[in-house]
Amino acid sequence: MPRLLVVLAFVGCISVAKSLSPEASEIATKHAIPYQANLRIEVIDSDIRYCAGTLISPNYVLTAANCGDGASKILVDMGVDDVENRQEPTWRTYLGDAFIAHPLYNKSTGYHDIGLIHLFEPAEINDAIQLVTLPDHRYKNLAGKMARISGWGNVNASTDLDHRLLRYADIPIGSHSNCLPQFPYPNFAQLCPAQSDSYFQTYDFGAPLMLKDVQIGIATATSFDNGIETNPQIYTRVDPYLSWIMNNTDVTIEQQKDHRLAVH
Ligand SMILES: *[C@@H]1O[C@H](CO)[C@@H](O)[C@H](O)[C@H]1NC(C)=O
Ligand SMILES: *[C@@H]1O[C@H](CO)[C@@H](O)[C@H](O)[C@H]1NC(C)=O
Ligand SMILES: *[C@@H]1O[C@H](CO)[C@@H](O)[C@H](O)[C@H]1NC(C)=O
Repeated sequence: MPRLLVVLAFVGCISVAKSLSPEASEIATKHAIPYQANLRIEVIDSDIRYCAGTLISPNYVLTAANCGDGASKILVDMGVDDVENRQEPTWRTYLGDAFIAHPLYNKSTGYHDIGLIHLFEPAEINDAIQLVTLPDHRYKNLAGKMARISGWGNVNASTDLDHRLLRYADIPIGSHSNCLPQFPYPNFAQLCPAQSDSYFQTYDFGAPLMLKDVQIGIATATSFDNGIETNPQIYTRVDPYLSWIMNNTDVTIEQQKDHRLAVH
């Protein structure tokens, strides 16, 4: 019986909040998340794919590898608040001229779902466009911590301004058992949220998961309930890939003493 109540409450929530992203989220203060990129990706023989990313240097954006699948053209929007308002004075669009998926990225397992976009020209850094902070060490245990996801979601489904603004939600990090059964084999480099009523959407793949001011994760995959995103969802951890990021970008990370940067 309690289970049925939960399901009904969820359905009721969906009818008003379908295109919000993440579900059960708050609207971010304008430009309070200045490192978040909106990605518009042209895919051969398909519709435009929306994804998210983060600016890690003026020349590179960090995102999910799956966002680059089949991409023929990548546009990176920075300084965005209302994703339908390109007249916004802070809005800048940059062309991505290379997509670097992790060499071990595996579409069927979802392992190593991490990618980089090189920008054709460097992004302007200003009040509305800034670099995200990456971890400087490996985390021993993230389970139990509260982290923050942000995204625009399926913005084009709505003309309602509330559905077009960048939103965020705080979610508790769980253990790998929280990924079951939809994601049966999460690996060391993946994070599973504990039960939460906040969800990112497929349009948020590549969005940052933040622990205070540090990006610890990348939204990469979701399960569905009647076509609607639901738990479990899964994130790629950033900390196991710091060497790979440094090797493939102009980013340098000062390694914290007494911590080893993983090689992967
Ligand atoms: C992806 O993983 C599956 C399952 O482990 C494996 O069978 C497949 O060969 C892998 N694909 C690539 C391209 O490595
Ligand atoms: C939303 O859809 C309209 C009409 O299909 C299109 O003109 C517009 O460019 C889309 N918005 C974005 C952000 O792509
Ligand atoms: C990064 O580059 C160094 C030096 O070439 C190499 O030893 C290391 O294996 C690389 N790491 C990754 C993750 O690519």
